[in-house]
Amino acid sequence: MQNLEQILTDAQREFAACSNLVDLEQAKARFLGKSGALTDLLKGLGKLSAEERPAAGAAINVVKQGVEQALQEKRDAILAAEQAQKLASETLDVTLPARGKSQGGLHPVTLTLQRIEELFHSIGFEVAEGPEIETDFYNFTALNIPEDHPARAMHDTFYVDEQHVLRTHTSPVQVHYMQNRQPPLRIIAPGRVYRVDSDATHSPMFHQVEGLWVDEQVSFANLKGVVQDFLQRFFERDDLEVRFRPSFFPFTEPSAEMDMSWNGGWLEIGGCGMVHPNVLGHVGIDAEKYRGFAFGLGVERLAMLRYGVNDLRLFFDNDLRFLKQFS
Ligand code: DAH
Repeated sequence: MQNLEQILTDAQREFAACSNLVDLEQAKARFLGKSGALTDLLKGLGKLSAEERPAAGAAINVVKQGVEQALQEKRDAILAAEQAQKLASETLDVTLPARGKSQGGLHPVTLTLQRIEELFHSIGFEVAEGPEIETDFYNFTALNIPEDHPARAMHDTFYVDEQHVLRTHTSPVQVHYMQNRQPPLRIIAPGRVYRVDSDATHSPMFHQVEGLWVDEQVSFANLKGVVQDFLQRFFERDDLEVRFRPSFFPFTEPSAEMDMSWNGGWLEIGGCGMVHPNVLGHVGIDAEKYRGFAFGLGVERLAMLRYGVNDLRLFFDNDLRFLKQFS
């Protein structure tokens, strides 16, 4: 029992000398283990008389608690030191650039639209926009498309409700634009259009660009000049030619389909004509004084030809292997 103070001091000293948890466990065994110094003393209690035993037991327990406390403090200190060392050795430079940082690119249809806008802008055309959900009036009636015209039938048009449709062409933008203005007017209207149609060359959503020039002396010859100049610059081919084939559109008179020369043949690229007097009448422009031409081109068609893409659906699959080729 006289050793009790000595045991506590020894334990404190030996624990303090440990520099890692393995050494500390061994030191612990020497005092608290099966045959440790304190355990021996506790075992020896049985040899004492019943009167001596309580005081001796209490004294041993006080020392035991002291040893355990010293052990716990040292264990905490070792763990804290190990943690600090780990943090110091694993310092991260958070200012380094991240891995796998790759750059995006514009969609080929967007690139095509930008190019179209740039080229028309350079010859004085403004860019106009209109809503993609149109009223029956703007999409059809104001464009001189009569009630019984096939374009109104359900198989072409997505109806939102009785009075509203997803616009089937960009031509209604002509009406919106002319309603608030008087000639001279010179615009293109690029945008999304929708039709109930889907295969390798048709998508339920696609893009058109509408052109409109209204003034006192605008002629079919101007139309041809504007479209041919645009296509020559768009495809970077000075020898590209445009031809017109007579056609019918309710909102133009006369009307024509436009073809352009391509690889020794002709390719259809859109419709056009002189704005119908009824359309000008709907928007309060004097059809006696003014006339104009209008045209509508398929944007994906232009993009497919320019980039050599043979399936329209590639534009809308969002396959990065395809899209990456344009960035
Ligand atoms: N809106 C017609 C279509 O989608 C294309 C068109 C034809 C537009 C003649 C015009 C035009 O402006 O004059 O099929």
